[in-house]
Amino acid sequence: MGDALPEPPAHAAQVSRELAKRIADAIDRAGGWIGFDRYMALALYEPRLGYYAAGSRKFGAEGDFVTAPELSPLFGQCVAAQCAHWFGSVRPRIVEFGAGSGALAAELLASLDALGEAPERYEIVEVSASLRERQRELLSRRVPALLGRVSWLDALAPRIEGVVVANEVLDAMPVRLFRWSDGAVHERGVACAPAGGFAFADRPADDAFAGRVRRTVEQVWREGATPRGDYVSEIGEQAAGWVATVAERLACGAMLLFDYGFPRAEYYHPHRSTGTLQCHYRHRVHADPFLWPGLQDITAHVDFTAVAGAARDAGLAALGFNSQARFLLDCGLLDRLAALPRGDAREWARQAQAAQMLLSEAEMGELFKAIAFGRDVPDDAPGFATRDRRAVLE
Ligand SMILES: C[S@@+](CC[C@H](N)C(=O)[O-])C[C@H]1O[C@@H](n2cnc3c(N)ncnc32)[C@H](O)[C@@H]1O
Repeated sequence: MGDALPEPPAHAAQVSRELAKRIADAIDRAGGWIGFDRYMALALYEPRLGYYAAGSRKFGAEGDFVTAPELSPLFGQCVAAQCAHWFGSVRPRIVEFGAGSGALAAELLASLDALGEAPERYEIVEVSASLRERQRELLSRRVPALLGRVSWLDALAPRIEGVVVANEVLDAMPVRLFRWSDGAVHERGVACAPAGGFAFADRPADDAFAGRVRRTVEQVWREGATPRGDYVSEIGEQAAGWVATVAERLACGAMLLFDYGFPRAEYYHPHRSTGTLQCHYRHRVHADPFLWPGLQDITAHVDFTAVAGAARDAGLAALGFNSQARFLLDCGLLDRLAALPRGDAREWARQAQAAQMLLSEAEMGELFKAIAFGRDVPDDAPGFATRDRRAVLE
């Protein structure tokens, strides 16, 4: 499959080779095998070389994928409406994780300002130094008067008050892979391939991981058939751990997350036997995580039942779970589209097309979900007003 993908330019290929050498060294030091989560962490976040740590273009038309805030300002306007509602009962502050190009931050600040609800502080937690610079540059152009309220945090504050926002961050967190075969659980990791590069390598899972896999899948399979033959999937330990940490620190406020994924019963459906691992390279989706390490995105879908469980265990109340499309419609996306100036017909048509992508079931509308939790926040979020599927996560 890799053969059909475009070759990277020479300097990018060189960066990838340097990262591959570093990953191979890590595998050697570990005795010939590392977990896939370790591989994914190195490929995406190794300082200076990893996909999100290096300076290459990732988001937007000339990058590898397009996210909702990149697609249209309508997304940020809808999220702003939801935040403005919450600002009626929590401190008007936003903490955004993994802000990418800064598009959502810019739109949130501008829209909230237009509503007379500019947050007193907008904090960004960003693991990538190059993305921080890109965000600062965009915000200084788009919302110069509000730049003084924006700060970048090196570490998560021990106490958070306000609204936590993260779009497509959970799917970028390293996952562990497993292979289930007639009741035996193996952990799928990474070894150096004899011919160069890397290859999957399975070994019997340790007791803790095997137990976690069994508890996860048996919740789903006890009512349905157990899969026949090999079943490969992921466990998003880091995503659930991240939600737990943020939730514990959220002293008073709401947490609003957008990502693609499913409730557990769908995620681990016996028919979904090859998991959800995906790679994005120049707007093509493929399944080879070993192609050009550091030059492509690697993601897995989100198990929203695990996310909801982590938030609940930390004492947060569920405020809503729904498709992204339904959330955006409930936040008035169509009225906002209709209200956009029509003077520039091409720009209006572009926004209408973007709205279609955000809403269409065949695009981002159904696979992408919105999920919200809160502490000491009224359970009346407008984004979940007409339909709410939170009950499927219990
Ligand atoms: C797919 S991009 C999404 C970017 C942006 N939110 C958007 O919608 O365009 C994933 C982002 O998550 C960030 N990220 C991953 N793990 C993170 C963590 N633990 N804390 C903060 N950011 C994280 C990455 O650096 C990257 O900016």
